[in-house]
Amino acid sequence: MNDIIVSPSLLGCDLGDLAAEVKRVEAAGADWLHFDVMDGVFVPNISFGQPVLKALAKAASKPIDTHLMITNPIRYIEDYASFGSSYITFHVEAADDPVSVIDKIHSCGVKAGVSIKPGTPAEAIKDIVPLVDMVLVMTVEPGFGGQGFIYDTVDKITQVRKMVDETGRNIYVEVDGGINGETGEICRKAGADALVSGSYIFNSSDMKKAISSLR
Ligand code: DX5
Ligand code: ZN
Repeated sequence: MNDIIVSPSLLGCDLGDLAAEVKRVEAAGADWLHFDVMDGVFVPNISFGQPVLKALAKAASKPIDTHLMITNPIRYIEDYASFGSSYITFHVEAADDPVSVIDKIHSCGVKAGVSIKPGTPAEAIKDIVPLVDMVLVMTVEPGFGGQGFIYDTVDKITQVRKMVDETGRNIYVEVDGGINGETGEICRKAGADALVSGSYIFNSSDMKKAISSLR
């Protein structure tokens, strides 16, 4: 397992002041910047896309951790790679051929992640775990920030950690949704080493303290 990575979700920041928010969260100790792309089809919400990623990449000095909550993600991999993502994570439920999406991400020189929704069993990704650099276990239904952590997902984090360890490769186990000091610790104990957190970090009065409590 790696040292804990904290990846603040920019969905929770003041988007009217994106560049300043990026600088503020980086100064407070963010390791990565989590960028949530939603298409209104795979999830019932629309967030932001390529032009915003371009603006973000200009302001950012930390790696950008892009989370694609979109149908048929292969169509947009080249854009999200060339506009500055270090990681691109797609949903296994949204791709007909996950292996070709992973290959596409890697061919763009970017690390590949695969994500599963709370209702999708770990079993669904067992054949592709050895091919990825990160597995993102959703701990809320994707689509909105500020939701409550789903405790039923904790066993799945442990299962995914086991699958990852069996590969003998260094693959991050990331969690996303409802992560705060308390739920973050539960996830770490279950085997997560990358924590995405939006509202907890951006709504806190002391961002530095919030980030160190996750670590
Ligand atoms: C939800 C997104 C998350 C979300 C997390 O679909 O993938 O990254 O912004 O926000 P919080 O931490 O507020 O649950
Ligand atoms: Zn996310």
